Amino acid sequence: MSDSVLLSYDKNIATLTLNRPEVHNAFNAEMIERIATLCDEIALRNDIDVVILRGEGKSFSAGADLNWMKESITYSQNQNERDAYDLAQMLGKLNSLPQLTIARVHGAALGGGLGLVSCCDVVIAAPEAKFGLSEVKLGLIPATIGPYVLAAIGQRHARRFFQTGERFSAQKAHDIGLVHILGDDETDIDGHLEKMLAEVAKNGPYAMRAAKKLCFDLSGSYVTNDIMENTAERIATIRTGEEAQTRLKAFLEK
Ligand code: COA
Repeated sequence: MSDSVLLSYDKNIATLTLNRPEVHNAFNAEMIERIATLCDEIALRNDIDVVILRGEGKSFSAGADLNWMKESITYSQNQNERDAYDLAQMLGKLNSLPQLTIARVHGAALGGGLGLVSCCDVVIAAPEAKFGLSEVKLGLIPATIGPYVLAAIGQRHARRFFQTGERFSAQKAHDIGLVHILGDDETDIDGHLEKMLAEVAKNGPYAMRAAKKLCFDLSGSYVTNDIMENTAERIATIRTGEEAQTRLKAFLEK
């Protein structure tokens, strides 16, 4: 079994660890499938109340694997769209886990990495963490992550960061509501995480699930299959275009 994403259980807590540190936990098709499968498994566990998402090594996640993005040019249109749809589905599964999800962020959370962060309920970040929607620098767009990022930071900030691709600090991420808790350093963020776990241990697990569902129902922010198909088509189309292919090649050959 692949070890690109690790899953461990400790009492009522599941921890998902992104585990491709050599590429800052950039995710390819195999890793996307694994996250999706593990989310399916966790979603069925009524004895699990909290899911922690974290990254091994220097970063949380540098987003989509750019080799995988570039390879899409060799796929048939159908295969390319299906491959992009798998990413959209994985994000949907993470976003709709019934348990409380907590992202523990350090290092880079760029592109799809910021997307994973946006799919979590609580975000605790180290002060040196770097955020950004750098897709446009590579001729891409934050398509499949778009619905979750928009829900997390709102259209006002999304209009800026989707188009500028600027990197921004953990402080800025905190200011715009993407990060809930900003620690002093990595030890401190683990302290905040422990405190949060102690806090929620006092709660009714059924009520927590019902409270999460209430948020989705009241905000009407369900990401439907139509939206997933639409965003998948957008990324599938743009990543095989000349602008993206040239820029992806330039990044990978740098
Ligand atoms: N996809 C594939 N490989 C990636 C990657 C990605 N998204 N991000 C980093 N890597 C690889 C690099 O190509 C490099 O590989 P190499 O050792 O074979 O040269 C390795 O990870 C280390 O990255 P490097 O850039 O040397 O490390 P760094 O510490 O200087 O910078 C990042 C780390 C994450 C800030 C930088 O790699 C980066 O900006 N990555 C691109 C992130 C991005 O734009 N993501 C959006 C995707 S839509």
